[in-house]
Amino acid sequence: MAATENEPTGPDFAQGIALSQLTDGSSLVGHADGEPVLLVRRGDELFAVGATCTHYGGPLGEGIIDGETVRCPWHHACFSLRTGEALHAPALRPVPRWRVERRGDRVHVTGRHEGVSARAGTNAGRVLSDVAEPESVVIVGAGAAGDAAADMLRREGYTGPVTLVGADPSPPYDRPNLSKDYLAGTAPEEWIPLRDRGYYEEIGVTIVPGARVNAIDTSARRVALSGGETHTFDRLLLATGSDPVRLPLPGGELPHVFYLRSLADSRSIIERLGPARRAVVIGASFIGLEVAASLRTRGLEVHVVAPEERPMERVFGRELARFIQALHESHGVVFHLQQTAASIAPDAVTLQSGEVLPADLVVIGVGVRPNVSLAQEAGIVVDGGVVVDEYLETSVPGIFAAGDIARWPDPHSGAPIRIEHWVVAQRQGQVAARNILGRREPFTTVPFFWSQHYDVPITYVGHAADWDRIDVAGSIDERDCLLAYRHGDQTLAVAGIHRDRDSLLSELALERHDQEALLSLIPRAEAAQSS
Ligand SMILES: Cc1cc2nc3c(=O)[nH]c(=O)nc-3n(C[C@H](O)[C@H](O)[C@H](O)COP(=O)(O)OP(=O)(O)OC[C@H]3O[C@@H](n4cnc5c(N)ncnc54)[C@H](O)[C@@H]3O)c2cc1C
Ligand code: FES
Repeated sequence: MAATENEPTGPDFAQGIALSQLTDGSSLVGHADGEPVLLVRRGDELFAVGATCTHYGGPLGEGIIDGETVRCPWHHACFSLRTGEALHAPALRPVPRWRVERRGDRVHVTGRHEGVSARAGTNAGRVLSDVAEPESVVIVGAGAAGDAAADMLRREGYTGPVTLVGADPSPPYDRPNLSKDYLAGTAPEEWIPLRDRGYYEEIGVTIVPGARVNAIDTSARRVALSGGETHTFDRLLLATGSDPVRLPLPGGELPHVFYLRSLADSRSIIERLGPARRAVVIGASFIGLEVAASLRTRGLEVHVVAPEERPMERVFGRELARFIQALHESHGVVFHLQQTAASIAPDAVTLQSGEVLPADLVVIGVGVRPNVSLAQEAGIVVDGGVVVDEYLETSVPGIFAAGDIARWPDPHSGAPIRIEHWVVAQRQGQVAARNILGRREPFTTVPFFWSQHYDVPITYVGHAADWDRIDVAGSIDERDCLLAYRHGDQTLAVAGIHRDRDSLLSELALERHDQEALLSLIPRAEAAQSS
């Protein structure tokens, strides 16, 4: 999804509008000083904030207002209307705040507040429990969760030393983009870093890129780095993410065979594109299919090999899987389903069936495995992920875990879950940071992810490992639909295409356990899909 430069539309708020144009709880997009502004009325109070999401430029006027917050329709970031702060990832920067004045029965936006700070945390300097703030914090893994945690520690007013150690030589970057616009050649390099150059220095976080933590001494409260360096910590956050599952195929180590996890991986694939005409993608995972779409955008011939009957049926069910397959086929992708690769040669992939697919480039996307060995070797309890409590604290007090590795007690399903989503990792990093400071805030977020295939974005809120029916509102083929994944009378998750507002409403309903609202968004059909 591309960032947008929003042309100011709607009324000029500097000229003022009639108060009667804004009913309680309603919002209006206009502009002031040439910038898009969202004006919101809550009771007698009026708020004005920037109307463009600081993540990828989503139109906040098309989102929803919930209390004193606005949620972005594209990837569900949430901003405070009062302070402009980015309360929930994936947005990391605040939106600007504007001054609003009531003059008689008119409302005017009179200028921008200066000094809105990304660190204007709502709890800044406030200690909400009797747990003392730590003397120092070390974060292992500078990805989605690690970056979000380091930032949140400072936003919450923590002034002690924070060290962010990351095995990746690049500072934190927008990993989801690596298989999408960046790989497709439609996102410039400057979109990829999560932060401006110098940001960590500015907020006083010591970042140690290209360094792997090899061991944790939980008694001495010390981590040992690959270069021999050690760092002591008072509290520790583990955010080591996942690595791609490697296929032990003959030829799997050839130079034209790639996995995609890091920026370096994505760059290597792009470098290889020069003379390549034919690509084989092994695995119809999210990453596999996004790679297929990006390589088609680059004009390569793309074949996808996968063992399942339909791509992503296990996540989305039969009908959406059928649509996704047809969508890719309409863009020229050739599927080889219910097939696996047997071997790779420098110019071809041979399938178990004996079929030979010519290939100048092979990308393997068959899933990921969480990096839990560091925790395990340190004696931290690992069971299908690093086990954490509702505050994201592991079995060792003072050591927290977040992101792909964390298995947490999900209050919505009532079961422990581990999830590999960008937004979940960032929000866990943010909540872990607050709990490192003793805030005792349970992690109750409803999981959210998005996936992009050509011009079709798919959003998904909730978590449905299993379901006994799928109800559809709208039309999947018309790319205008909501799908409810249900177990008995419970809606566990909702997927959507081009139903951004309804996806946000579903998220709110799932947060509030409001099954009736979910039923009215997606009524039970007489004949539902069963799988
Ligand atoms: C190409 C791609 C596209 C994706 N697209 C989407 C999407 O569209 N939507 C979505 O929801 N999710 C998407 N994901 C998944 C999402 O990126 C992950 O769920 C998320 O990054 C997990 O965050 P994390 O902080 O747990 O781990 P990561 O972001 O992977 O960060 C972990 C970091 O820890 C480092 N590390 C590991 N071990 C050590 C160690 N011992 N010492 C020091 N550092 C260490 C790693 O180098 C890595 O940089 C995508 C993933 C990929 C690879
Ligand atoms: S554009 Fe707003 S959350 Fe992504």
